[in-house]
Amino acid sequence: MPGAINHPLFARFYTVLARLAEPAGTAEHRQELLAGMEGRAVEVGSGAGTNFVHYPTTVTEVIAVEPESYLRDRSRAAAVGAPVPVSVKDGSAADLPIEDGWADVVVFSLVLCSVADPATALAEARRVLRPGGQLRFYEHVRAASPERARLQDRVDRVWPYFAGGCHCNRDTPRAIVAGGFDIEHLRRFDLRLGWAVAPVAPHVIGTAVPRPR
Ligand SMILES: C[S@@+](CC[C@H](N)C(=O)[O-])C[C@H]1O[C@@H](n2cnc3c(N)ncnc32)[C@H](O)[C@@H]1O
Repeated sequence: MPGAINHPLFARFYTVLARLAEPAGTAEHRQELLAGMEGRAVEVGSGAGTNFVHYPTTVTEVIAVEPESYLRDRSRAAAVGAPVPVSVKDGSAADLPIEDGWADVVVFSLVLCSVADPATALAEARRVLRPGGQLRFYEHVRAASPERARLQDRVDRVWPYFAGGCHCNRDTPRAIVAGGFDIEHLRRFDLRLGWAVAPVAPHVIGTAVPRPR
């Protein structure tokens, strides 16, 4: 299938890492990401479905899109225990299997680091959002400090080979603005899970709305 992703080793490693990181801070971040959401949501690149238990019951339906087959199976298993109805589809951020204007909210959670082209993914998010809809994002990002960002640039020469195509140095808030969104809220923080993942310590959680065309 076009857009299929095949990272069998990383998918298994990430499934374990995502579970272990929950009590170390990510559970709180995922709750913050999804707090107060209502209506129909699209979650792009749902991975092992780690967000699903955190959706508030004011969300009526989630369509999760996951291109990697192992992770898609994990998402389907996680959907069974979710507090809201979740269906999981094969597909890519570059070509979401969702009709125009379907979603009240589109969620990117640790995904804009990994898609081949963030601009295309953001254009797709705009397409599937209804007028007045909202983007929610939780992403590791390029460091604000120039010294740390330079270090990320060096590490990024090899990082994607070990991290399923993830880039540690992307300026995702800038990409969101360039993609036609106005950022409503942005919180920057460091998530410190150990030296091995230090290049992806700088994180953001935020919301954005499509800028009128
Ligand atoms: C680091 S994992 C994050 C998973 C999950 N969203 C989370 O919060 O734990 C990155 C995810 O992005 C997905 N991904 C990579 N390229 C993608 C694409 N083009 N379209 C959709 N998802 C993609 C991967 O398969 C993987 O599930």
